[in-house]
Amino acid sequence: MGNRFWRIFIVSVCILCFVALGAAFAQKKVGGGDIKYESKKQGAVLFSHEKHMKVPDTKCNACHTKVFKMKKEAKITEADHKETKYCGTCHDGKKAFAQTDKADCAKCHKK
Ligand code: HEC
Ligand code: HEC
Ligand code: HEC
Repeated sequence: MGNRFWRIFIVSVCILCFVALGAAFAQKKVGGGDIKYESKKQGAVLFSHEKHMKVPDTKCNACHTKVFKMKKEAKITEADHKETKYCGTCHDGKKAFAQTDKADCAKCHKK
């Protein structure tokens, strides 16, 4: 009995290690990962956590949870672009490129 027990024990430990390692790799994405907004009218928008976290001095609380919930749920309209809310909190033409300048639409909206 002893031998069989140890074999099963060791195999189980190995499987658990692989599962833990896999989970660690899966979490390598930054923050909430890539967020896709499938705007049909203007072209899809990709928000990259990775690129935004590379902006100097950016912490999670630059956006969470005052500007965005930690959940993909915002319903962003064209009218919102003119206000200092959602992406416009920073994309105002000062902290980052604007949302109201025709030349900049395609920096976010990809056809
Ligand atoms: C520049 C703004 C910004 C920063 C900084 C930021 N996030 Fe996000 N995050 C967003 C946006 C935008 C969404 C989507 C919100 C929505 O659609 O309502 C989001 C969503 C999320 C989600 C939910 C993802 C999903 O698929 O539902 C998680 C989790 C998250 N963020 C974690 C983080 C963590 C952790 C950090 C810091 C490492 C961070 N975020 C920094 C903008 C940001
Ligand atoms: C900083 C990024 C950003 C820029 C720049 C930007 N937008 Fe958007 N826009 C968004 C996001 C995010 C949404 C939400 C898309 C969704 O939820 O489907 C959106 C939504 C829209 C919508 C509503 C789409 C729909 O299907 O209801 C319109 C119209 C729109 N934008 C037009 C524009 C125009 C015109 C410009 C340039 C003057 C522009 N946007 C620049 C991020 C941006
Ligand atoms: C906390 C401030 C902040 C918020 C909120 C924010 N951004 Fe940005 N974003 C920046 C800065 C700063 C840059 C880099 C400077 C620049 O390009 O003007 C940038 C760059 C970008 C870029 C170019 C780099 C890339 O990822 O290709 C895109 C696209 C973009 N933002 C989309 C968005 C969208 C869409 C939202 C809303 C869902 C958003 N941002 C919200 C600060 C912000």
